[in-house]
Amino acid sequence: MSGFIQRLPKTELHVHLEGTLEPDLSFSLARKNGIDLPYASPEALLQAYDFHDLPSFLTIYYKAMNVLQDESDFYALTWAYLCKAKEQNIVYAELFFDPQAHTSRGVAFDVVIRGIRRAQEQAAAELGVETQLILCFLRDFSAESAMQTLVEALPWKHWLVGVGLDSDEKNNPPIKFSAVFALARAEGLKLTMHCDVNQLNTLVHIGQVLHEIGVDRIDHGINALEDPELCRVIAERGLGLTVCPVSNRFCVQDLTATQLRQMLQLGMRATVNSDDPAYFRAYLNENLLALQDEGGMTRAEIVQLVRNGFEVAWIPEERRSHYLHALNQYVASAS
Ligand code: ADE
Ligand code: ZN
Repeated sequence: MSGFIQRLPKTELHVHLEGTLEPDLSFSLARKNGIDLPYASPEALLQAYDFHDLPSFLTIYYKAMNVLQDESDFYALTWAYLCKAKEQNIVYAELFFDPQAHTSRGVAFDVVIRGIRRAQEQAAAELGVETQLILCFLRDFSAESAMQTLVEALPWKHWLVGVGLDSDEKNNPPIKFSAVFALARAEGLKLTMHCDVNQLNTLVHIGQVLHEIGVDRIDHGINALEDPELCRVIAERGLGLTVCPVSNRFCVQDLTATQLRQMLQLGMRATVNSDDPAYFRAYLNENLLALQDEGGMTRAEIVQLVRNGFEVAWIPEERRSHYLHALNQYVASAS
């Protein structure tokens, strides 16, 4: 099964580029940029990862980003992830980035996006890994800051496929950003938002993303299972849910395998993703293997979750058919 999972052609639709920053790269960028890290080695940094919920994770995640300073750093970060994606047989990925986490510490927006883009183009040409970029707003920053970021990003719109919303959900509901997301949609961008697991007022937030924002996808969204009407709407609209099992295990001490299986049974288009793989120490294949080993997922369930990734990806129909054909051929040849 591990060979089967490795060789399956896959999507990744929920990965934060800043969450792919490995301790080794942190150390080499810190050295290059003359930054002192308060750890003796990459191993010591890894040992200091101590999180048990979303806020404790986010504190460590934001602090680590300080080593990202110039365009070549964002290139190196993205290129390292895309090489990893190639190794994992991810053929298509949609990548989140958090510009406000950089502009708020004095790194210009264009420095960030140019570095990321250069790696994306190189990966398409040299690795055959296709990617698109999703700009995430930090929901614990103000709506004005999000709007300012969107306006700053619009000249780069041709490099973006959509916008998302991440960071600390507590007291930061989707409707805080209604105007920002309305403008993004009017500009032709797709919309997604995090509805992280077990957050305060989660069902209200999921209701808002469905009925007031009108998202094209939901990131996580596990708690929708508590309300049959929310499940019905998600299934009826064919909305994708980007679930991140190992991330869930860190943040809510549950791999959410049972919930993923329930979603499949209800006809909801759940997908499996890695979220912040350098921190949760699991890339996409490790997430799928955990579902199989610990969650008892069958080969057919794994294939359905992977197929859903291609079904809900924001790509032209011709690309979707191409990828689904390759997936079907692989599954037929492997059985
Ligand atoms: N930023 C990076 N990872 C995140 C997550 N899992 N939830 C919210 N914001 C994030
Ligand atoms: Zn996430």
